[in-house]
Amino acid sequence: TTLELIGAPTDIGASVRGAGMGPDALRVAGLPEALARQGFTVIDRGNLAGPATPWTAPANGLRHLDEVIAWNRSVYAAVDTALGTGHVPLMMGGDHCLAIGSISAVAWHARKRGKKLRVLWLDAHSDVNTETTSPSGNLHGMPVSCLLGHGPAALTGWSGERAALEHDAIRFIGIRSVDTDEKDAIRTLGLHVFDMRHIDEHGMRTTMTEALQDVDEDTHLHVSFDLDCLDPNIAPGVGTGVRGGPTYREMQLCMEMVADTRRLGSVDVVELNPALDVRNQTAEVAVELIESLFGKSTLVR
Ligand code: ARG
Ligand code: MN
Ligand code: MN
Ligand code: MN
Repeated sequence: TTLELIGAPTDIGASVRGAGMGPDALRVAGLPEALARQGFTVIDRGNLAGPATPWTAPANGLRHLDEVIAWNRSVYAAVDTALGTGHVPLMMGGDHCLAIGSISAVAWHARKRGKKLRVLWLDAHSDVNTETTSPSGNLHGMPVSCLLGHGPAALTGWSGERAALEHDAIRFIGIRSVDTDEKDAIRTLGLHVFDMRHIDEHGMRTTMTEALQDVDEDTHLHVSFDLDCLDPNIAPGVGTGVRGGPTYREMQLCMEMVADTRRLGSVDVVELNPALDVRNQTAEVAVELIESLFGKSTLVR
């Protein structure tokens, strides 16, 4: 398998600066070398280019819409190229709005190949706001809506269908911060959310067994890993951290259970903010978790 690392150095969808340094922090933490050590061919495509973040106020409920479109176009093209070559793309954000481009490309390829798509959304947040519900106007809080066909027209329909994803294609894990209107959206859309209470009561093992149910040989599995899913104790380097996330051990098990399916086809690693990190600790934790996601095991070589 060939892994393609795609850097998308921007904080265009956020309101805290610094996520643009995420790709290089992951490189400094040794991500390419770690994956190469596991036997993969690793191509680092370097960083995509895009507009600077203007830090203007939201217009019509959306901050930086034009620039978010431009960045997502680049991400779409890069992920599309990687998948077209038969490679596994690993998009290094950047903030979570970039999942619009990334997952739209993944959805297009999955449909073309007649594969079922399953997305695991690892996050403290549900990211299912729209321009009318968002309290912030930040597009990193809206990618799920856009992918379900409910965002601004310019950010929907990129996969060739109105919705890149059906509500049934996505599983949320680690959720603990949901805005009032997002609660309604989750119910109305019928989204499958494993929140922190679910993990507390049933444990990560049961949660992941449920989240991965029906993943079979015809499934393309995509992991969209927002690093603020992790407890801030182990991952302080994020812009919108929320207390009470999965522990290091819980997240390792989550990643190992994904790897066991052998159906992982694409990954986003987003919201890493080195400006808020402690000696690159969050990037280092991310690298260790990504190693497990790609099958690193304690006992099997
Ligand atoms: N729900 C909040 C908002 O919409 C926070 C979203 C945070 N999203 C993220 N990808 N970190 O503004
Ligand atoms: Mn988040
Ligand atoms: Mn359903
Ligand atoms: Mn997110």
